[in-house]
Amino acid sequence: MKGFQLITFVLFFFTIAFLFCQESPVLYHSFKPGQIWYDNNGIIINAHGGGIFNHLDTYYWFGEHKIAGPAGNKAQVGVHCYSSKDLYNWKDEGIVLHVVENDSSHDIAKGCILERPKVIYNRKTKKFVMWFHLELLGRDYRAARSGVAVSDNVTGPYKFLKSLRPNKDQWPQNVLDIHKKPVKEDVKKTAYSGGSLPGHTDSLNILGRDYPGGQMARDMTLFVDDDEKAYHIFASEENSTLHIAELSDDYLSHSGKYIRVFVGRFMEAPAVFKRQGKYYFIGSGCTGWAPNAARSSVAPSIWGPWRELGNPCIGPDSSLTFFSQSTFVLPVIGKKETFIFMADRWNPQNPIDGRYIWLPMKFQADRIILEWFDEWDLTFLDSKKE
Ligand code: GAL
Repeated sequence: MKGFQLITFVLFFFTIAFLFCQESPVLYHSFKPGQIWYDNNGIIINAHGGGIFNHLDTYYWFGEHKIAGPAGNKAQVGVHCYSSKDLYNWKDEGIVLHVVENDSSHDIAKGCILERPKVIYNRKTKKFVMWFHLELLGRDYRAARSGVAVSDNVTGPYKFLKSLRPNKDQWPQNVLDIHKKPVKEDVKKTAYSGGSLPGHTDSLNILGRDYPGGQMARDMTLFVDDDEKAYHIFASEENSTLHIAELSDDYLSHSGKYIRVFVGRFMEAPAVFKRQGKYYFIGSGCTGWAPNAARSSVAPSIWGPWRELGNPCIGPDSSLTFFSQSTFVLPVIGKKETFIFMADRWNPQNPIDGRYIWLPMKFQADRIILEWFDEWDLTFLDSKKE
């Protein structure tokens, strides 16, 4: 056999083998947290650090598309979208925001870090708006920026608009006098590790340091209130403190109104939702890809005061959030005041094999309760205990 024929034969053989090895689509009727989850094409769902957005009775799941191996911790592809009517079975809607190849100076150049994308809809402009945590190529986690992309269609394509550090030249509503004092030169020059600080965030005055250039923004979520006002909630001040920042009416920038919450508590992976007129927060501590105990909190207004409620998880592995980290809390359509906790079980050695941990949320008065289930379905939420 000549070389060319041999190559053709080998290619043909592997193509046929590949087609036969594809899993046939599975029809799901339940959630199995931590198990492999296939899409409508029999391919494993790839939407990490995700959020779900409901539009015209369809759910859209947006998340980070990861690849195999440690390179998958950086953005090699972009943001992946799936749609579903029942939350169990997901249709692949493709990559809706692509990283940019062949231009390493682009804000979303291939190999940058693009995490925790979230999409909301602006009724006034009729645009779908995506925000995400962005770290510029080659700068590790030092840039701490937010990216914005927009589309006329929920399933994209999303056009990258800009990246920024929020609230440049703006003081928060709850600014302290100490923040308006001069910042020490060594604090100005230092990039801290993001997991601890050599002093309290207020005495170091990280807020004041970043006032002229904009505040750091890493792990993030979006929340739209009943009055259509939208909020960007992100880990700021070297991860030490969360900021809750109102977005402009078109959702494309910040209005300049914001507060600092959980000061010095190093909260990450924020998720915010509203129940019975109260605002709830779930997040994590700050230990990178490694799991830690979840945090929760409640407030009468998005502007606080936020009262911490402790770890919402109970039972075995509750001190490690069942080996996962929060990413979103999903209100279920047609089941009033019922919510699903969504989290990621990260796998930094092989990020494509990160798993999804979805659990039903229960409440005891104000307290959120999260308990492990190997398998559960939406009827579980009908019997939720108050
Ligand atoms: C986590 C964060 C992830 C990712 C990771 C990198 O704390 O929640 O989104 O940024 O750190 O180490």
